[in-house]
Amino acid sequence: MVALGVVGSGIMGSGIAECAALAGHEVVLRSRQQATADATMAALEKSLNRRVDKGKLSAEERDAALGRVTATSELDALARCDLVIESVVEDLAVKKHLFSDLDRLCPDPTILASNTSTLPVIEMAMETGRPEQVCGIHFFNPATVMDLVELVRPLTVSDGTMSTARAFVESCGKRAVEVADRAGFVVNALLFPYLNNAIRLLELGVASKEDIDTAMQGACGFPMGPFALLDLVGLDTSLAILEALYHEYRDPNYAPAPLLRRMVSAEQLGRKSGRGFYDYHRH
Ligand SMILES: NC(=O)c1ccc[n+]([C@@H]2O[C@H](COP(=O)([O-])OP(=O)(O)OC[C@H]3O[C@@H](n4cnc5c(N)ncnc54)[C@H](O)[C@@H]3O)[C@@H](O)[C@H]2O)c1
Repeated sequence: MVALGVVGSGIMGSGIAECAALAGHEVVLRSRQQATADATMAALEKSLNRRVDKGKLSAEERDAALGRVTATSELDALARCDLVIESVVEDLAVKKHLFSDLDRLCPDPTILASNTSTLPVIEMAMETGRPEQVCGIHFFNPATVMDLVELVRPLTVSDGTMSTARAFVESCGKRAVEVADRAGFVVNALLFPYLNNAIRLLELGVASKEDIDTAMQGACGFPMGPFALLDLVGLDTSLAILEALYHEYRDPNYAPAPLLRRMVSAEQLGRKSGRGFYDYHRH
């Protein structure tokens, strides 16, 4: 079992913490504000209660998993972790700054990882004095449901770090695929042109968003259509992913559709803000 640190308690950070706690790992979850840390603990308890109600978890297992998680606003609390995964906003400057702080705080053996969807892990690694101990551990959304993780190998990482990262991921019941440190890795490099082109079809008036979603679900057997998926991912995160892909490859398929950019400016971010392509407010 590892002592896991998770930085960022958004959609992904909280999901990764839940997976790891259920797998028996001790978790320190760090939010910038103590109020958010407390709210994240309350949401975790609610999510675990739902598992108990569905008969997937016993009350004792729920209590044990909850007892393994400490949510805090103190970055220093991560100093006792063997592995720290950052899952803060998809912004390279923010992540680089965080890696430099983590490098200063964490003891020499600690492995530092990023859950970035697209950004160059090498740039985060080079902010530290331990680039051989930095890799990407890219979970998918929702982290508690999706069983794949991409293990991202920057040029500087050691084989030992990659094996430790793989062992951790597998201990959480996930399958790991190893990918090179290129924007979008495998999954998002293939997925995001599809999502972006769905927005373009909508802008062209080819069909309504509901009909595009229905078409892709019905024809391809996808569990949800592109607009429902964009809302789940978060439109700000989707825009950041497309921008990183376009920056790397200059492929027009990655150039963000104008409507996506306008919706982010309007703070229509998908489920997390209550409104995106669909409305999630309870009436
Ligand atoms: N949403 C997805 O489907 C998905 C899937 C896989 C990976 N990711 C990646 O996970 C990471 C987090 O994404 P998310 O969807 O959880 O986003 P989110 O918007 O739900 O959460 C972002 C978190 O970052 C924190 N944050 C924002 N600005 C910050 C700053 N300046 N300094 C420190 N923390 C800051 C926020 O408080 C929040 O806790 C990103 O790198 C994203 O690319 C997202």
